[in-house]
Amino acid sequence: MMTVETAAQAAYIVAALLFILALAGLSKHETARAGNSFGIAGMAVALAATVALAIAGDISTTGLILLAAATLIGAAIGLHRAGRVEMTGMPELIALLHSFVGLAAVLVGWNGYLHVEAHPDGAEAALLNAQDMLGIHSAEVVIGVFIGAVTFTGSIVAFLKLSARIKSSPLMLPGKNALNVGALAAFAVLTAWFVITPRLWLLIVVTVIALLLGWHLVASIGGGDMPVVVSMLNSYSGWAAAAAGFLLENDLLIVTGALVGSSGAYLSYIMCKAMNRSFLSVIAGGFGIEAGPADAKDYGEHREINAEGVAELLTTADSVVITPGYGMAVAQAQHGVAELTRVLRERGVRVRFGIHPVAGRLPGHMNVLLAEARVPYDIVLEMDEINDDFSGTSVVLVIGANDTVNPAATDDPTSPIAGMPVLTVWEADQVIVFKRSMASGYAGVQNPLFFRENCAMLFGDAKERVDDILRAVTAVTPAAMHR
Ligand code: TAP
Repeated sequence: MMTVETAAQAAYIVAALLFILALAGLSKHETARAGNSFGIAGMAVALAATVALAIAGDISTTGLILLAAATLIGAAIGLHRAGRVEMTGMPELIALLHSFVGLAAVLVGWNGYLHVEAHPDGAEAALLNAQDMLGIHSAEVVIGVFIGAVTFTGSIVAFLKLSARIKSSPLMLPGKNALNVGALAAFAVLTAWFVITPRLWLLIVVTVIALLLGWHLVASIGGGDMPVVVSMLNSYSGWAAAAAGFLLENDLLIVTGALVGSSGAYLSYIMCKAMNRSFLSVIAGGFGIEAGPADAKDYGEHREINAEGVAELLTTADSVVITPGYGMAVAQAQHGVAELTRVLRERGVRVRFGIHPVAGRLPGHMNVLLAEARVPYDIVLEMDEINDDFSGTSVVLVIGANDTVNPAATDDPTSPIAGMPVLTVWEADQVIVFKRSMASGYAGVQNPLFFRENCAMLFGDAKERVDDILRAVTAVTPAAMHR
């Protein structure tokens, strides 16, 4: 028994190191694959050690059967979902998985209460009492349940918003900040109360408040700010797991939870900087702004162009910048875009890419697609690197991007995306926008770019239109191309 425990503790340390290596690997695209393998290996070691501990401990046969059944069912569902999920559906799947972590932390907390505080005369409560640890246990219960419940409902709302099952616009309850602060204050008071007298009703009230707070925090955040919310919930799910680790006295869960919690918090911080949002107001929740009158404005007429027209512009251009967005991912146009880039470069046109930090639906979404299509890394530039160059650019191809190229973010203080840094594509000589209609982007706001004089719309599926342009460009003889 003792040897299994010692071996399991050693395995936990190995798993924790593998998780750290996984995070280090995932931070660069060259090493991301290796990082993923480290993570899988760490999780396999952790699972094996946990099962070995359970078998060596006093687990009943029924318990063992339940454990095996849960593992098999969970693995089957996980494999099925991971095999089917589209790249564009990844964020909502991640949000749903965060909700499971939150729910698990709530159940672990309640289980802790039912085993200890609910039976003050029982053996476990007596043991903790003798060690003067009962109060600490009660605090762990109530804090774990609180973080878990906020993560649970918050992640469900994020899932519903990201999968467009509910509207992505912010819920604006009157006095929303007071509601959030009030909920936090009530939680602090109730926690102290529960530690002194652990009553069932107190835990019920904390659970309900936390469920409502999680729902409200995410519901009151506007569509364009969802990337930050997803990484924030990632962080919350880590802290929820760490809280469960304290209750279960599982060191690996504490370490893993802290790794996820702190890396998620750091990612939220980086994204807040990229989106020009205050990190503190994100943690407080509800930093989305209500849609202003911008949507009702009349911007005039837009101009249309066809694929042949774009091909002509490209063949006479000196420099072209492509700014892809979510629509390129939906259309899976990256291979055609890569081919068009290759053909134009071969014929002497300078082609580069400008990538907005939240283009698409995942951090690094566009970089992954372009890498998959083998676009050379050195022509793929970050927003800060390309923004000064638009004024000297002949043609910008906006392929399925919308919010990330919206000038309202810089010149309309009433816009819901006001203050968010954007790609200043309108400074180029010509801008061509690839999309299927005049519909708005993820944030649900109209884009004045489409009505500017130097902008033309190329309607249709991005992949089909890119292929049309490719055909038209290759039909032109190379000699006739570059000025
Ligand atoms: P969006 O603003 O979402 O706009 C994408 C555009 O692509 C839409 O206007 C759509 O117009 C067009 N489109 C869709 N399918 C298409 C197809 N098959 N062919 C051609 N066009 C197509 O894109 P963005 O500029 O990449 O901005 C990203 C937005 O998502 C931001 O608001 C960001 O905050 C949010 N967000 C980002 C993340 C991360 S981490 N990247 C996570 C969650 C949310 P039509 O319908 O007219 O075709």
